Amino acid sequence: MKILITGGAGFVGSHLVDACLERGLEAYCVDSLDAQIYERPPDYLNPEARYSFADLRHWQPAPWLEEIEAVAHLAALGGVARAGREPANVISANAGGTARLLELLTRHCPRLRRFVLVSSFSVYGSGYSYVAPSTGEELGADRRTEDLEAGRFEVYSPETGEIARIVPIREDAPPQPLEIYGASKYMQELCLRGFALCPATILRLSSVYGSRMRWHDSEATILGRIAGWLSEQRSPELLEDGRQIRDWVWAGDVVEATVKLLTGAQEAPPVINVCSGVPTHLDDACRQMAAALGVDISPALVGGYRPGDMRHCLGDATRLTSLLGRPPLSFRQGADKMFGA
Ligand SMILES: NC(=O)c1ccc[n+]([C@@H]2O[C@H](COP(=O)([O-])OP(=O)(O)OC[C@H]3O[C@@H](n4cnc5c(N)ncnc54)[C@H](O)[C@@H]3O)[C@@H](O)[C@H]2O)c1
Repeated sequence: MKILITGGAGFVGSHLVDACLERGLEAYCVDSLDAQIYERPPDYLNPEARYSFADLRHWQPAPWLEEIEAVAHLAALGGVARAGREPANVISANAGGTARLLELLTRHCPRLRRFVLVSSFSVYGSGYSYVAPSTGEELGADRRTEDLEAGRFEVYSPETGEIARIVPIREDAPPQPLEIYGASKYMQELCLRGFALCPATILRLSSVYGSRMRWHDSEATILGRIAGWLSEQRSPELLEDGRQIRDWVWAGDVVEATVKLLTGAQEAPPVINVCSGVPTHLDDACRQMAAALGVDISPALVGGYRPGDMRHCLGDATRLTSLLGRPPLSFRQGADKMFGA
């Protein structure tokens, strides 16, 4: 079976390429080798895959496109900060690149059976909801500046004053991206409206970890920055009180879910959260990573807050669990996989 993987030189895409080849599938990749990420093609590129180093916006497809049976679309320019600096480029690469890919597939891919779009939790933006434990009162994710200034970092019930609990976000929550990167990922999703060539599934990824993550990149996620600090024997610097909940998913689970969709004949929901569904506090994640690395370094709570930051992020992994046939790994189970090959 011939699979097209866009973004196949990237962190997640390269693991997907390896997994497809290990399963006897033929992997074809399109990747622009974005100059802000790479000085040269990364060493881990798989010699058994076929690469077209081109930007989707201008890609002139090769004859093999006619034989492609399934597509995993991962090509995207990432990073909230970068999207703020160059919104036109990021929107055109992510949304324009997706629109052009779908146009080419419709024109050149008569055998296409499945399309998987790899999207992001960033489309949910501030759409998280909370519940007050004693009353069941439902609350939004907003926090008051006076609470934050006073070092009260949780979401509180205005009625009882108690700390509200985050409700794991489900796929039917309305997208409310807060910034340009999230907006561009939602635009990618919207590009699928009216796409009728084959069944399409949107995978919304929480934050992914695994080998080949870029720790020292200016766009590194908090987990990547923590790994970078620890590997330099420095204490990770955490804002607020370090008790923020995050939901990290192992790249191997992302890959397995994607391969199942690409190769399986079964129907799948149109949108699937790809997350662990297990709440992990930032300071605990630091300790778990330090243990995995074998270093004795504790996080430094530097206090303060960044306006607009979400207190907690947590996904509902019910659909993913049913796709995988098992629960995804929790960060506690997978922390050491950050440092593997
Ligand atoms: N890594 C995460 O934590 C995370 C979380 C949520 C969603 N995602 C999504 O998963 C996908 C893969 O993420 P990643 O972490 O592997 O990113 P990455 O930056 O490592 O890989 C993306 C690849 O896409 C390529 N690319 C970018 N724009 C392109 C274009 N217009 N044409 C061709 N190639 C292009 C880049 O050169 C890069 O190799 C992305 O769509 C991203 O939005 C990732």
